[in-house]
Amino acid sequence: MELRALGSTGIRVSPLGLGTVKLGRNQQVKYPGAFELPQDKAVSGLLDLARELGINLLDTAPAYGSSQERLGRLLGHRRKEWIIVSKVGEIFENGESRFDFSFEHTVATVERSIATLKTDYLDCVLIHSSGDDLQILEHEGVLDALRELKRRGLIRSHGMSSKTIEGGLRVVQEMDVVMATCNLDHNEELPVLEAAYAHDKGVLVKKGLMSGHVQGTGGVRRSFAHVFAQPGVSSMIVGTINPAHLRENVRLLEQVLEGSA
Ligand SMILES: NC(=O)c1ccc[n+]([C@@H]2O[C@H](COP(=O)([O-])OP(=O)(O)OC[C@H]3O[C@@H](n4cnc5c(N)ncnc54)[C@H](OP(=O)(O)O)[C@@H]3O)[C@@H](O)[C@H]2O)c1
Repeated sequence: MELRALGSTGIRVSPLGLGTVKLGRNQQVKYPGAFELPQDKAVSGLLDLARELGINLLDTAPAYGSSQERLGRLLGHRRKEWIIVSKVGEIFENGESRFDFSFEHTVATVERSIATLKTDYLDCVLIHSSGDDLQILEHEGVLDALRELKRRGLIRSHGMSSKTIEGGLRVVQEMDVVMATCNLDHNEELPVLEAAYAHDKGVLVKKGLMSGHVQGTGGVRRSFAHVFAQPGVSSMIVGTINPAHLRENVRLLEQVLEGSA
């Protein structure tokens, strides 16, 4: 897969990224069916397969249970082959989420993620929104903290996984990358994607397969075609722990991108 610019960050990402919620968390998630967390051997195989297929982007978060700890352990010396996106603000403990967007918590979270992932930098850190995007950006310390961490060289870029149009538009003005929802059933945030394109900001699409509620191979193909018809999409992050789905997603996406080239 041909790499794409993540806005003007200088980072290049594969158009399909691997979401890693399902590597570390199976409680309080909105997937169609219950699932067991995969064993280490299966996760290693999935990561190898992803690299082999041309995927270089991993999306993780401290709120994804053991995702970061497992990635840190299993990536080992191959960390530099990956672009790692992590998050700050959501804490998932004892089956429940809470949020902290303070300056101090943001710095401590990034330092801990770097240690857990056994690396010395993160390629991108997103604010993991609770839904009050503007309140978080305007009244909390997280934005200043991420700017400071970027100056210190601990993170290469920053952004927000936003939930509102107003929030997404503000992210485009203030930050490097926006992560927004776009799928066959959810097009409310298209103005955010358009603004990001106009301002040369990175765009990561989440929930592009409706968190797995998409119907069959035809539905997956239509979902990719829909997302990549939007100009400026850097990468669509798809979560899977099924190697056959990973292969199918790469094959279908390549067909879609070749068709639109
Ligand atoms: N920041 C946020 O607030 C936020 C929220 C949600 C997600 N995210 C990020 O975005 C990623 C993707 O979001 P998501 O996991 O909610 O939604 P998604 O990528 O739309 O859907 C993932 C689901 O689709 C299934 N799937 C994948 N490929 C498939 C295929 N070819 N055929 C049928 N089913 C398929 C997966 O099941 P199998 O495992 O069986 O393949 C999984 O259950 C997450 O992993 C996470 O990294 C971020």
